[in-house]
Amino acid sequence: MSDRVKEVVPDLIYAIRSTLKKHGVTFEEYGAAMQYLIRVQETGEVPLFVDAFFNATIVEIDNVTREGTQADIQGPYYLNSEAYQIISERLPHRPIDENAQDMVIRGQITDTDGNPLAGAELDIWHSTPDGLYSGVHDGIDAKYCRGRVITDAQGRYSVKSKLPVPYQIPNQGPTGELLEQHLGRHSWRPAHIHFWARADGRRDLINQAYFENGEWVGDDCCETDHLDLVVPELIENGARVMEVNFALDPALAIAAE
Ligand SMILES: [Fe+2]
Repeated sequence: MSDRVKEVVPDLIYAIRSTLKKHGVTFEEYGAAMQYLIRVQETGEVPLFVDAFFNATIVEIDNVTREGTQADIQGPYYLNSEAYQIISERLPHRPIDENAQDMVIRGQITDTDGNPLAGAELDIWHSTPDGLYSGVHDGIDAKYCRGRVITDAQGRYSVKSKLPVPYQIPNQGPTGELLEQHLGRHSWRPAHIHFWARADGRRDLINQAYFENGEWVGDDCCETDHLDLVVPELIENGARVMEVNFALDPALAIAAE
């Protein structure tokens, strides 16, 4: 790791210094920037700030070496692995969401040659029908709208849930202030479903699926729309069907010590 630090950090510092010089940044502006970063830290927004501006770039780099399904950002709302109970039927939803539109999330996990991967694990998480995340936003038990499915002998999975909606990333703090007031951008994400797929001998895949014709698709505040993961509109028995397939690359070889 320290070799990588020696490689990357000097370039990073050089890029920042060059930008400061290019724009003739003053002491006053330098001080304001420092105060801003202190506010990001004090408001607990470091993960949000970093994810909003840089997570998509790391994903882009990661995807260069992927032959199968492309990765997408994880976002800050995964929680830890223990929060994901194995589900065979339906992701739990709050009683107040009973009348929200039904959704079926289903698909197949394969290797990059199309061979089914039986017993693969898929963690699924998405917003509530009012755009909140369990275990994150006030008083919503961590079990809602989250779960782990295991693929069958054909590599298939299917689980019911309730439809998520577009939501704004927190915009009352310094990150939202920078996006909206200073950069003239918005803080909306299109409705989406998060996935984390794992299988023996395969490379982990974190990605997201979006809804065809959904608001903000193609104009995500996190600049992360992979338009190949926009799922065509399909309704079955009143439920929106999200057919999402994953082709997992072979696990990366561990570099020799
Ligand atoms: Fe999300």
